[in-house]
Amino acid sequence: MATIKTIAIIGASGNMGSSIAISLAKAPYRLLLFGKEEKKLRSVFKEIKLINKLVNAEVIGCAADASWEADIIIAAVPFAAEKELAEKIKQVATGKIVISISNPLNDTYTGLVTNADTSAAEELQNFLPHSKVIKAFNTTFAGDFSQPVIDGKTVDAFIAGNDEEALQTVSDVVRAAGFNPIKAGALAVSRTLENMQALLIQLSIKNNYNWVAGWKILHN
Ligand SMILES: NC(=O)c1ccc[n+]([C@@H]2O[C@H](COP(=O)([O-])OP(=O)(O)OC[C@H]3O[C@@H](n4cnc5c(N)ncnc54)[C@H](OP(=O)(O)O)[C@@H]3O)[C@@H](O)[C@H]2O)c1
Repeated sequence: MATIKTIAIIGASGNMGSSIAISLAKAPYRLLLFGKEEKKLRSVFKEIKLINKLVNAEVIGCAADASWEADIIIAAVPFAAEKELAEKIKQVATGKIVISISNPLNDTYTGLVTNADTSAAEELQNFLPHSKVIKAFNTTFAGDFSQPVIDGKTVDAFIAGNDEEALQTVSDVVRAAGFNPIKAGALAVSRTLENMQALLIQLSIKNNYNWVAGWKILHN
Protein backbone atom coordinates (compact mmCIF):
# COMPACT_ATOMS: atom_id res chain seq x y z
CA MET A 1 0.00 0.00 0.00
CA ALA A 2 1.33 3.45 -0.94
CA THR A 3 2.20 5.71 1.98
CA ILE A 4 0.10 8.82 2.45
CA LYS A 5 1.91 11.96 1.33
CA THR A 6 2.14 14.98 3.58
CA ILE A 7 1.35 18.38 2.07
CA ALA A 8 2.44 21.58 3.84
CA ILE A 9 0.37 24.59 2.82
CA ILE A 10 2.30 27.76 3.62
CA GLY A 11 -0.16 30.66 3.60
CA ALA A 12 -3.11 28.44 4.51
CA SER A 13 -4.91 31.45 6.01
CA GLY A 14 -5.02 33.19 2.61
CA ASN A 15 -7.58 32.95 -0.19
CA MET A 16 -5.71 30.33 -2.19
CA GLY A 17 -4.12 28.45 0.70
CA SER A 18 -7.45 28.02 2.48
CA SER A 19 -9.24 27.05 -0.76
CA ILE A 20 -6.61 24.42 -1.56
CA ALA A 21 -6.74 23.05 2.00
CA ILE A 22 -10.55 22.83 1.98
CA SER A 23 -10.59 21.18 -1.47
CA LEU A 24 -8.22 18.47 -0.19
CA ALA A 25 -10.16 17.76 3.02
CA LYS A 26 -11.47 14.44 1.70
CA ALA A 27 -8.38 13.51 -0.30
CA PRO A 28 -5.88 10.89 0.93
CA TYR A 29 -3.23 13.32 2.16
CA ARG A 30 -1.94 14.53 5.50
CA LEU A 31 -2.31 18.32 5.56
CA LEU A 32 -0.10 20.68 7.55
CA LEU A 33 -1.44 24.22 7.68
CA PHE A 34 0.81 27.19 8.32
CA GLY A 35 -0.30 30.80 8.21
CA LYS A 36 0.49 33.97 10.04
CA GLU A 37 -3.14 34.71 10.93
CA GLU A 38 -3.87 32.23 13.73
CA LYS A 39 -7.60 33.04 13.96
CA LYS A 40 -8.22 32.60 10.23
CA LEU A 41 -6.14 29.43 10.25
CA ARG A 42 -8.22 27.93 13.06
CA SER A 43 -11.40 28.68 11.13
CA VAL A 44 -9.98 26.99 8.01
CA PHE A 45 -9.06 23.99 10.16
CA LYS A 46 -12.60 23.92 11.60
CA GLU A 47 -14.08 24.00 8.09
CA ILE A 48 -11.89 21.07 7.01
CA LYS A 49 -12.99 19.09 10.07
CA LEU A 50 -16.64 19.78 9.24
CA ILE A 51 -16.13 18.41 5.72
CA ASN A 52 -14.27 15.34 6.99
CA LYS A 53 -14.13 14.70 10.71
CA LEU A 54 -11.47 12.03 10.16
CA VAL A 55 -9.20 14.37 8.18
CA ASN A 56 -5.49 13.96 8.83
CA ALA A 57 -4.64 17.65 9.31
CA GLU A 58 -2.99 19.93 11.80
CA VAL A 59 -2.10 23.56 12.28
CA ILE A 60 1.65 24.13 12.56
CA GLY A 61 3.22 27.28 13.99
CA CYS A 62 6.36 27.39 11.88
CA ALA A 63 6.82 27.27 8.07
CA ALA A 64 10.14 25.43 8.35
CA ASP A 65 8.71 22.76 10.69
CA ALA A 66 5.74 22.20 8.36
CA SER A 67 8.07 21.96 5.34
CA TRP A 68 10.43 19.61 7.19
CA GLU A 69 7.61 17.13 7.75
CA ALA A 70 6.18 17.48 4.23
CA ASP A 71 6.67 15.61 0.97
CA ILE A 72 5.04 18.44 -0.96
CA ILE A 73 5.21 22.13 0.00
CA ILE A 74 2.68 24.57 -1.45
CA ALA A 75 3.92 28.17 -1.42
CA ALA A 76 0.51 29.89 -1.21
CA VAL A 77 2.03 33.30 -0.54
CA PRO A 78 2.33 36.46 -2.64
CA PHE A 79 5.11 36.51 -5.25
CA ALA A 80 6.89 39.25 -3.29
CA ALA A 81 7.10 36.99 -0.19
CA GLU A 82 8.59 33.96 -1.96
CA LYS A 83 12.26 34.89 -1.55
CA GLU A 84 11.82 35.33 2.22
CA LEU A 85 9.88 32.06 2.43
CA ALA A 86 12.53 30.23 0.37
CA GLU A 87 15.24 31.39 2.77
CA LYS A 88 13.23 29.97 5.70
CA ILE A 89 12.56 26.56 4.16
CA LYS A 90 15.61 26.05 1.92
CA GLN A 91 17.38 23.55 4.20
CA VAL A 92 14.31 21.43 4.84
CA ALA A 93 12.96 21.55 1.26
CA THR A 94 15.92 19.73 -0.28
CA GLY A 95 14.77 17.02 -2.69
CA LYS A 96 11.11 17.90 -2.11
CA ILE A 97 8.37 19.11 -4.40
CA VAL A 98 7.59 22.81 -3.98
CA ILE A 99 4.46 24.02 -5.77
CA SER A 100 4.59 27.56 -7.14
CA ILE A 101 1.05 28.94 -7.44
CA SER A 102 1.96 32.61 -7.71
CA ASN A 103 1.21 35.11 -10.43
CA PRO A 104 3.70 38.01 -10.34
CA LEU A 105 1.12 40.63 -11.26
CA ASN A 106 1.78 44.34 -11.39
CA ASP A 107 -0.27 46.74 -9.24
CA THR A 108 -2.91 47.29 -11.94
CA TYR A 109 -3.22 43.58 -12.90
CA THR A 110 -2.43 44.55 -16.49
CA GLY A 111 0.76 42.53 -16.73
CA LEU A 112 3.59 40.80 -14.89
CA VAL A 113 6.51 42.30 -13.00
CA THR A 114 8.86 39.49 -14.10
CA ASN A 115 11.01 39.76 -17.24
CA ALA A 116 9.84 37.89 -20.35
CA ASP A 117 12.73 35.41 -20.10
CA THR A 118 11.71 34.09 -16.68
CA SER A 119 8.71 33.42 -14.41
CA ALA A 120 7.81 33.36 -10.73
CA ALA A 121 8.23 29.57 -10.79
CA GLU A 122 11.72 29.75 -12.28
CA GLU A 123 12.70 32.42 -9.75
CA LEU A 124 11.48 30.16 -6.94
CA GLN A 125 13.53 27.31 -8.45
CA ASN A 126 16.59 29.59 -8.38
CA PHE A 127 15.94 30.34 -4.69
CA LEU A 128 15.49 26.59 -4.01
CA PRO A 129 18.01 24.91 -6.34
CA HIS A 130 17.83 21.55 -4.54
CA SER A 131 14.01 21.30 -4.62
CA LYS A 132 11.70 20.22 -7.44
CA VAL A 133 9.62 23.30 -8.21
CA ILE A 134 6.38 22.58 -10.04
CA LYS A 135 3.95 25.22 -11.32
CA ALA A 136 0.32 24.44 -10.51
CA PHE A 137 -2.94 26.08 -9.44
CA ASN A 138 -1.90 29.50 -10.80
CA THR A 139 -4.50 29.42 -13.59
CA THR A 140 -7.39 28.69 -11.21
CA PHE A 141 -9.11 31.37 -9.14
CA ALA A 142 -9.59 30.77 -5.40
CA GLY A 143 -13.35 30.88 -6.10
CA ASP A 144 -13.05 27.96 -8.55
CA PHE A 145 -12.13 25.49 -5.79
CA SER A 146 -15.68 25.36 -4.46
CA GLN A 147 -16.95 25.19 -8.04
CA PRO A 148 -14.37 23.40 -10.24
CA VAL A 149 -17.11 22.40 -12.69
CA ILE A 150 -18.25 25.49 -14.61
CA ASP A 151 -20.89 25.41 -17.34
CA GLY A 152 -20.85 21.60 -17.07
CA LYS A 153 -17.11 21.31 -17.69
CA THR A 154 -14.32 20.56 -15.24
CA VAL A 155 -11.84 23.45 -15.27
CA ASP A 156 -8.41 22.56 -16.65
CA ALA A 157 -5.47 23.23 -14.33
CA PHE A 158 -2.08 23.43 -16.01
CA ILE A 159 1.09 22.03 -14.48
CA ALA A 160 4.69 22.68 -15.52
CA GLY A 161 7.96 21.30 -14.25
CA ASN A 162 11.20 19.56 -15.09
CA ASP A 163 10.81 16.33 -13.09
CA GLU A 164 8.41 13.78 -14.57
CA GLU A 165 7.71 11.95 -11.29
CA ALA A 166 7.05 15.24 -9.48
CA LEU A 167 4.73 16.34 -12.30
CA GLN A 168 2.70 13.14 -11.85
CA THR A 169 2.57 13.58 -8.07
CA VAL A 170 1.29 17.16 -8.44
CA SER A 171 -1.10 16.08 -11.18
CA ASP A 172 -2.67 13.70 -8.63
CA VAL A 173 -3.00 16.56 -6.10
CA VAL A 174 -4.66 18.80 -8.72
CA ARG A 175 -7.13 16.05 -9.63
CA ALA A 176 -7.88 15.42 -5.94
CA ALA A 177 -8.67 19.15 -5.60
CA GLY A 178 -11.37 18.73 -8.27
CA PHE A 179 -9.67 20.03 -11.42
CA ASN A 180 -8.61 18.41 -14.69
CA PRO A 181 -4.79 18.38 -14.63
CA ILE A 182 -2.91 19.08 -17.86
CA LYS A 183 0.87 18.65 -17.96
CA ALA A 184 1.85 21.66 -20.05
CA GLY A 185 5.61 21.12 -20.25
CA ALA A 186 8.88 22.15 -18.63
CA LEU A 187 9.09 24.73 -15.84
CA ALA A 188 9.80 27.50 -18.40
CA VAL A 189 6.21 27.03 -19.66
CA SER A 190 5.27 28.84 -16.43
CA ARG A 191 5.99 32.08 -18.34
CA THR A 192 2.96 31.31 -20.52
CA LEU A 193 0.84 30.02 -17.63
CA GLU A 194 1.44 33.16 -15.55
CA ASN A 195 0.52 35.35 -18.54
CA MET A 196 -2.61 33.25 -19.09
CA GLN A 197 -3.81 34.12 -15.60
CA ALA A 198 -3.05 37.82 -16.13
CA LEU A 199 -5.29 37.64 -19.21
CA LEU A 200 -8.03 35.75 -17.34
CA ILE A 201 -7.98 38.40 -14.60
CA GLN A 202 -8.32 41.19 -17.17
CA LEU A 203 -11.20 39.36 -18.88
CA SER A 204 -12.84 38.71 -15.50
CA ILE A 205 -12.76 42.40 -14.65
CA LYS A 206 -14.03 43.42 -18.11
CA ASN A 207 -16.78 40.80 -18.37
CA ASN A 208 -17.79 40.43 -14.70
CA TYR A 209 -16.98 36.73 -14.34
CA ASN A 210 -17.24 37.24 -10.55
CA TRP A 211 -13.90 35.48 -10.01
CA VAL A 212 -15.30 32.06 -10.90
CA ALA A 213 -13.77 31.35 -14.30
CA GLY A 214 -11.21 28.99 -15.77
CA TRP A 215 -9.52 27.64 -18.86
CA LYS A 216 -10.79 24.63 -20.81
CA ILE A 217 -9.18 22.98 -23.82
CA LEU A 218 -11.86 21.44 -26.02
CA HIS A 219 -10.69 18.45 -28.02
CA ASN A 220 -11.79 15.15 -29.58
N1 LIG B 1 -6.53 34.64 -5.31
C1 LIG B 1 -6.54 33.92 -6.43
O1 LIG B 1 -7.62 33.67 -7.03
C2 LIG B 1 -5.25 33.37 -7.00
C3 LIG B 1 -5.32 32.53 -8.14
C4 LIG B 1 -4.15 31.93 -8.60
C5 LIG B 1 -2.94 32.17 -7.97
N2 LIG B 1 -2.91 33.03 -6.90
C6 LIG B 1 -1.61 33.24 -6.23
O2 LIG B 1 -1.72 32.66 -4.93
C7 LIG B 1 -0.86 33.35 -4.01
C8 LIG B 1 -1.66 33.75 -2.78
O3 LIG B 1 -2.69 34.62 -3.19
P1 LIG B 1 -3.96 34.87 -2.27
O4 LIG B 1 -4.97 35.52 -3.14
O5 LIG B 1 -4.31 33.63 -1.56
O6 LIG B 1 -3.36 35.95 -1.26
P2 LIG B 1 -3.80 36.22 0.26
O7 LIG B 1 -5.24 35.93 0.45
O8 LIG B 1 -3.27 37.57 0.55
O9 LIG B 1 -2.98 35.15 1.08
C9 LIG B 1 -1.57 35.18 1.15
C10 LIG B 1 -1.10 34.31 2.28
O10 LIG B 1 0.32 34.38 2.37
C11 LIG B 1 0.69 34.77 3.71
N3 LIG B 1 1.94 35.51 3.67
C12 LIG B 1 2.15 36.75 3.22
N4 LIG B 1 3.46 37.07 3.33
C13 LIG B 1 4.07 35.97 3.86
C14 LIG B 1 5.40 35.67 4.21
N5 LIG B 1 6.38 36.55 4.05
N6 LIG B 1 5.68 34.44 4.73
C15 LIG B 1 4.69 33.53 4.92
N7 LIG B 1 3.39 33.78 4.62
C16 LIG B 1 3.10 34.98 4.06
C17 LIG B 1 -0.47 35.58 4.20
O11 LIG B 1 -0.48 35.66 5.60
P3 LIG B 1 -0.93 37.07 6.28
O12 LIG B 1 -2.29 37.38 5.75
O13 LIG B 1 -0.92 36.78 7.73
O14 LIG B 1 0.10 38.07 5.85
C18 LIG B 1 -1.63 34.76 3.64
O15 LIG B 1 -1.87 33.61 4.43
C19 LIG B 1 -0.28 34.56 -4.77
O16 LIG B 1 1.01 34.26 -5.18
C20 LIG B 1 -1.21 34.70 -5.98
O17 LIG B 1 -0.55 35.24 -7.11
C21 LIG B 1 -4.03 33.63 -6.39
